[in-house]
Amino acid sequence: MEERAYKAGAAQHFYVDAKREFADVYISRAVLMNGMYEGLYPLGTALARPLIAEKVVEVARRVGADAVAHGSTSKGNDQVRFDVTVKALAPDLKIIAPARIWGMTRSEEVEYARRHGLPIGEEHKRYSIDDNLWSRSIEGGPLDDPMAEPPEDAFKWTVTPEKAPAEPTYLTIGFERGLPASLNGEKMDLASLVATLNHIGGVNGVGRVDHIENRLVGFKSREVYEAPAAVILYHAHRDLEKLVLTPRELRFKHQVLDPQWADLVYQGLWVEPLRVALEKAAEEMERWATGEVRVKLYRGNLWVVGRESPFGGYSKGLADYSAGWYPTDEEARGFIEMWSLHSLTALRRRRGNNL
Ligand code: ARG
Repeated sequence: MEERAYKAGAAQHFYVDAKREFADVYISRAVLMNGMYEGLYPLGTALARPLIAEKVVEVARRVGADAVAHGSTSKGNDQVRFDVTVKALAPDLKIIAPARIWGMTRSEEVEYARRHGLPIGEEHKRYSIDDNLWSRSIEGGPLDDPMAEPPEDAFKWTVTPEKAPAEPTYLTIGFERGLPASLNGEKMDLASLVATLNHIGGVNGVGRVDHIENRLVGFKSREVYEAPAAVILYHAHRDLEKLVLTPRELRFKHQVLDPQWADLVYQGLWVEPLRVALEKAAEEMERWATGEVRVKLYRGNLWVVGRESPFGGYSKGLADYSAGWYPTDEEARGFIEMWSLHSLTALRRRRGNNL
């Protein structure tokens, strides 16, 4: 990157390693909030943009710059995420997006770089790719036909399920207060745990996502992702929540808090105060999300096959069909009578019957 920066005419290059911060601040919240935009996109790019913008602003301050620049075009979500974050952190800094100003298309950008002797890898000519610890986003080229299966050369982190091992892989993921803390009994920091899961998932062909996504700039696009760790942790974490949360907490979190959070992050509003409020509400519930989840990976698929927690609401004595507690006939009838009363009253009324 450094070499490339100087080739592009940079006066000075700064290398910022923000992997740990990305894991500890952004990925951790994505796990806590089951961050999946429109149910399937783990938000890797969307989460990284505000952090990148923050680091750019830090450098701008250090060198006394009066403007920052980025390479986004006018058609993507990333321009919004970069611009909004810079405006929030440094309203006095000018934002310059050359591709947007010059109105360049992607192929014009590639051609411009070629003319100026800036090498672009083959995969970046065919696709628009962005990757980080949490996910690899692949867009454009052959993927713009939503009916065509993504070609194998779109993928780098995951094997096609046909090539995955014929034996399943079992994982035990330990969570503490909603956050992944161990893998197969071994304590791990989040960044290492995510990197390890990306590898294990990828080998098993787990973590490919292909969907139609509603961009925030007004049109639908076909998006492909590789995110083995994100997909595994999403399923494991949601499963643990089902064990420990009350049904009311569970519904509120999964139907309201989580999707609202994902929308804000996707839509470039990391700085929106509601994002923090949603996290605070979730943290209160996640105090109980401590425990272990067993996951089975096999040829592109994954299943949660076991879960336990000291705070689990599951009681064998209550659930067991062959022994333990049974309500009496009278208790059951009384409960059902009052439980259905609202609905049955409305039905009678709507059928024109007397109450
Ligand atoms: N559609 C995804 C998003 O908006 C991925 C964007 C990837 N960025 C890119 N320049 N290829 O977050």
